[in-house]
Amino acid sequence: MIYADNAATTKVSEAALAAMLPCLTQVYGNPSSLYAFGQSAKEQLEDARARIARCLHADPKEITFTSGGSEADNQALRTAAALGAKKGKKHIISTAFEHHAILHTLDALKKEGFEITLLDVHENGLITAQQVAEAIRPDTALVTVMFANNEIGTVQPIAEIGAVCREKAYCSIRMPCRRQDICRLTYRLCRSTCSRSPDINFTVRRAPAYSMPERASGSKT
Ligand SMILES: Cc1ncc(COP(=O)(O)O)c(C=O)c1O
Repeated sequence: MIYADNAATTKVSEAALAAMLPCLTQVYGNPSSLYAFGQSAKEQLEDARARIARCLHADPKEITFTSGGSEADNQALRTAAALGAKKGKKHIISTAFEHHAILHTLDALKKEGFEITLLDVHENGLITAQQVAEAIRPDTALVTVMFANNEIGTVQPIAEIGAVCREKAYCSIRMPCRRQDICRLTYRLCRSTCSRSPDINFTVRRAPAYSMPERASGSKT
């Protein structure tokens, strides 16, 4: 069989497997446990957090591990929406071809009084920064665009979109993942040969404001 759907999920690389094996078979304590075995696991965890932060030019404190992509998406959207609502901003921009974890969360937010603008995707599978610029309003709380599409693999012009948001002062973050003006990033490791496990996705977040959804939206497979 030739597997050609690596945008959906992909094989763990030899290097990632070798790095993970000791954690699964030797240092497998609960990192919250106070005794040495648990604390060794905690050291591994914090080391992973620091490495991920370095890759993203982020601060380790900004890296949150979640149980999977849906939780990370819900958390990112709901936190940003709550922060926007506090300032009276209840408009969200996204695209028509987001994952269900985003689209269903947006549906839920719509029922809670947010106005959602879904940008049409062009035949080439892309949106443009211009579309985003035209959709932004004074009451826009959030622009959320999938970096790389999980079905067709198109990579959106995130740096340009980030620059448009930043220009309009909707994204004040300086650089970490900030090189691309991204405020929040949820990243599925299973797409990147790092791990099959759904519980090591993460969200880069800008402020400690952190709201766990009462009920997560999405569709699990
Ligand atoms: C962008 C995005 N968000 C969320 C998910 C769902 O992730 P999970 O099944 O880990 O909740 C996926 C899975 O394909 C995805 O591509």
